[in-house]
Amino acid sequence: AIRGNFFDIAACVEQPEQLGAQLRHLPDGLLLLNQGRIAWFGEWQQGAALLPAGTAVTDYRDKLVVPGFVDCHIHYPQTEMIGAYGDQLLGWLQRYTFPVEGRFCDAEHAENISAFFLQQLLSNGTTTALVFATVHPQSVDALFTQAAAFNMRLIAGKVMMDRHAPEALLETPAQSYQQTRALIRRWHGKQRLGYALTPRFAPTSSPQLLAQVQRLRQEFPDVWLHTHLSENRDEVAWVKELFPQQRNYLDVYHQYGLTGEKSVFAHCLHLEDAEWQCLCDTRSSIAFCPTSNLFLGSGLFKLQQAWRRKVRLGIGSDVGAGTTFNMLQTLGEAYKVAQLQDYKLAAGEAFYHATLGGARALALDSHIGNFDVGKEADFVVLDPAVSPLQQLRYANSRTLDEVLFMLMTLGDDRNVYRTYVDGKVVFQAPQRQEAA
Ligand code: GUN
Ligand code: FE
Repeated sequence: AIRGNFFDIAACVEQPEQLGAQLRHLPDGLLLLNQGRIAWFGEWQQGAALLPAGTAVTDYRDKLVVPGFVDCHIHYPQTEMIGAYGDQLLGWLQRYTFPVEGRFCDAEHAENISAFFLQQLLSNGTTTALVFATVHPQSVDALFTQAAAFNMRLIAGKVMMDRHAPEALLETPAQSYQQTRALIRRWHGKQRLGYALTPRFAPTSSPQLLAQVQRLRQEFPDVWLHTHLSENRDEVAWVKELFPQQRNYLDVYHQYGLTGEKSVFAHCLHLEDAEWQCLCDTRSSIAFCPTSNLFLGSGLFKLQQAWRRKVRLGIGSDVGAGTTFNMLQTLGEAYKVAQLQDYKLAAGEAFYHATLGGARALALDSHIGNFDVGKEADFVVLDPAVSPLQQLRYANSRTLDEVLFMLMTLGDDRNVYRTYVDGKVVFQAPQRQEAA
């Protein structure tokens, strides 16, 4: 049993104005766990009587317990190249990304980076992610094997690509089909793991490759589809050249049946009206990746437009184009992206996107995203003030809203005190000297 200061969002919303009524703050709450699930959630006053005599109670009343963060777009093989200097998307891929991904033909390398990557997720409070691997099947095996050991809810897939990358990273459409099919059968639905068909993006996909993705989607209608869409202006122009028949970038995917409720498109920065409409009509989702969009100089995501069009949306770190695994820092950058467009991203809305909203974007909101009874017990215990500056600011914060906003502007991985997955502690902060 866990007694603590809890915050979550009770239900999904269609408009930001509806969020206020759904914010749930229990300064003295009780969370009962049973076999990795939430068995009871409510006020300590009401719940204490339910506890069998002698039940151990962990007390987090001086912390802030929130649902585990959901990262809707990240590349695990790019962990060791975060912060690569000087290029925008297309140059960055050639100069930094493809060479680093080439190393994942070595299964041992894939195992080492998988272990490091999962530790980074957990030590940052991220308990679910939608993950790009590389073109090599062993890159997926390595990641899923280790995520299964934590019983994490994780979705991943092998990159599919057959052109416009170095020879060593290319495959034929037939190979791509066969290897992806074998991975789906091995991993999809095993424990809490899910498989995502992962064509890298339109420029590295021939029409024949996209036809194989479509074939797999028809064969396995339950798997996810994860790709990039309209990130960079040169990329958009290139897609127009490569696919002159299609009306726009999204249409390349849509024509192959790759839009839909379990489709997640990263970035979506330079969409035409018809593309917004198509995302809406097909109930597809967006991963908004603020640190990546700023770092690669890709553009400013139109958050307000996503609300207006009622397109489901989650937050992605997009490591290694993104510059942090940390969702608090990522939300802080999202706030600045919105500021540059005269939209005010309130803390409650930001935390919604990073938890329940992200879960909904991944069609996982019946499993994770808040503390509803029956949901899976993945959550983070945040220490609200870990540095002298944070303590000063915290002492000057009167409402929960101010504390949340302080966390997204000044917070980082130091604020993650413990992370729980499947009801168990999977990360614990090292002992720290008392600050101040
Ligand atoms: N578009 C195609 N591949 C990639 C990638 O690895 N990272 C980002 N940010 N965009 C891409
Ligand atoms: Fe990406």
